[in-house]
Amino acid sequence: MDKLYEGKAKILYTTDNPGVLLSHFKDDATAFNARKRGTIVGKGQINCSVSAHLFRLLEGAGVATHFIDQTAPDEMQVKTARILPLEVVVRNIAAGSLTQRTGLQSGTVLKHPLVEFFYKNDELGDPLVTTDHIELLELATPSQIQQLRELSLRVNSLLQRFFEQCGITLVDFKLEFGIDQTPGSSGGILLADEISPDTCRLWDSNSSDPQARVLDKDRFRLDLGGIEGAYQTVMERILAQPV
Ligand code: TMP
Ligand code: ASP
Repeated sequence: MDKLYEGKAKILYTTDNPGVLLSHFKDDATAFNARKRGTIVGKGQINCSVSAHLFRLLEGAGVATHFIDQTAPDEMQVKTARILPLEVVVRNIAAGSLTQRTGLQSGTVLKHPLVEFFYKNDELGDPLVTTDHIELLELATPSQIQQLRELSLRVNSLLQRFFEQCGITLVDFKLEFGIDQTPGSSGGILLADEISPDTCRLWDSNSSDPQARVLDKDRFRLDLGGIEGAYQTVMERILAQPV
């Protein structure tokens, strides 16, 4: 196995099969464009298991993903894909950078889900981009942008309903997509990367305390403590719900 790419939270390896990559989930945690670094013990296994479960849920509902199989607690096989340099964020409740950008109060329920695109570029600090910027920079075609928006909203509806059953409020989340590059494929769009407490804001529906309810990476970003316990809670509640 050769290392193809190492990111902040995962390592991708090639395999003997050109259509299959191995994704290894690390315990490393970063925030604020890696200016803050740390380790969340057990995160790799939790994020891998949570992502596998949610990818299965989405595949079952007809959303094409890169997920093939979970092969170890912190490893999954995924389809070879060319990742689009975009982060698609969907928000149901105002939090994080939306509150800083708009002055909306954290916790404000949005009338409709909001879709935002960020340019995946560490040097630039992953800036928010408009669809015109995306076309200008040729990061995706107009038809791909439309598909990304529709797919992300569909994923939001499915995840929101699922998390609700787990007693978790889906505040917002980030998705990444790729173009299917498995041999013989027609090059469709695949949901890629991961869906985990690293990439979602998840609030415990049973708590209204603004700090106690946080079950996601904001515990690390904002130094709230109790990170491992929160991640463990998310995993237990999610895996308890069959998909
Ligand atoms: P934001 O409010 O900081 O823009 O984050 C929106 C969502 O995207 C939140 O659920 C956390 C997730 N996210 C990532 O997965 N990776 C990132 O690098 C950032 C900044 C946010
Ligand atoms: N992935 C981000 C980084 O370190 C952090 C975040 O999720 O806030 O750049």
